[in-house]
Amino acid sequence: MITVGIITASDKGAAGEREDKSGAAVAELAAGMGWAVRAADIVPDEPEALRAKMIYQADTLGLDIIFTTGGTGFSPRDITPEATLAVVERLAPGIPEAMRLESMKITPRAMLSRAVAGIRGRTLIINLPGSPKAVRECLGAVLPALAHGVEILTGKSGECGES
Ligand code: MTE
Repeated sequence: MITVGIITASDKGAAGEREDKSGAAVAELAAGMGWAVRAADIVPDEPEALRAKMIYQADTLGLDIIFTTGGTGFSPRDITPEATLAVVERLAPGIPEAMRLESMKITPRAMLSRAVAGIRGRTLIINLPGSPKAVRECLGAVLPALAHGVEILTGKSGECGES
């Protein structure tokens, strides 16, 4: 079973001033795929806090996929992509490309998300925008392909074949 971690980047969420609906949306969609959500954390939009949480969920918990939500826009506090780039070893650009491609059919504002995705060890880390609506739209574009990516990443499958 694929194991999942969720990290919500939100100053207000971390301070308890806002309910975390985007992390809950990720958890619901992951559960719908039959995946096990093993961790869900909220951290402020601070590079060190984000990096530390991503490293913990990847290296200590050994999760297959980490989804971050929020902090991908243009606000000066939006630094989730930069924190992600600091901890991944290899990029997976097709994932945010697919998210933006599909999302642009819904709203031109999709181009304003600077989300990235990459691989740290055996963990795939994927940025998502911070609204529950955007989470559903972006995940709808990429969820069907992720199980195969994880199989290849974790060595459970070496074959891409026809499927
Ligand atoms: N992507 C989808 N699919 N749907 C959306 O509504 N909103 C956009 C964009 N991506 C959106 C989307 C908007 S308005 C912003 S500002 C950016 O994501 C960044 O959001 P974030 O700062 O919450 O990460």
